[in-house]
Amino acid sequence: MKFKYLLCFASLFCSTNCSYNSEDDLTEDAIVEEFVTYNDNIKSIIDTNCIFCHSSPPVNGAPMSLITYNDVKDAVENRDLIGRISTTDAGFVMPFGGPRLPQNLIDLVIQWEQEGLLEN
Ligand code: HEC
Repeated sequence: MKFKYLLCFASLFCSTNCSYNSEDDLTEDAIVEEFVTYNDNIKSIIDTNCIFCHSSPPVNGAPMSLITYNDVKDAVENRDLIGRISTTDAGFVMPFGGPRLPQNLIDLVIQWEQEGLLEN
């Protein structure tokens, strides 16, 4: 009797595993929808935390504006934007003077770069 229960349990476990495998295609679709893009995810972070100084024209000593997609993309590629928001050095961090952005927002910008700095 006990053995039957075990078998039943084992086959249940196996069938869950099998159906999980067959969901691979669905999972890929979900990931495509979850790409980080400038318009969906990044613009609001920059607008809230950076354009106070990185406006157009930039103010408060900021050297460039971060208003458009190309501005922000260029800053990631050529001005170490990710290094500046990731650092724990209070004298170097952006936003200028701190505090550092919440880690989940920093991670989004890093993911955006890894996925190819998509606009849409
Ligand atoms: C209070 C004003 C202010 C805010 C807010 C601010 N910055 Fe800055 N930013 C500056 C100043 C001033 C400099 C130039 C001095 C320096 O590099 O530390 C600068 C420089 C930079 C640089 C380096 C540019 C270069 O060519 O060396 C980057 C990248 C940058 N900021 C990104 C950001 C990002 C991203 C945010 C928002 C998360 C932000 N900044 C928020 C004032 C600001």
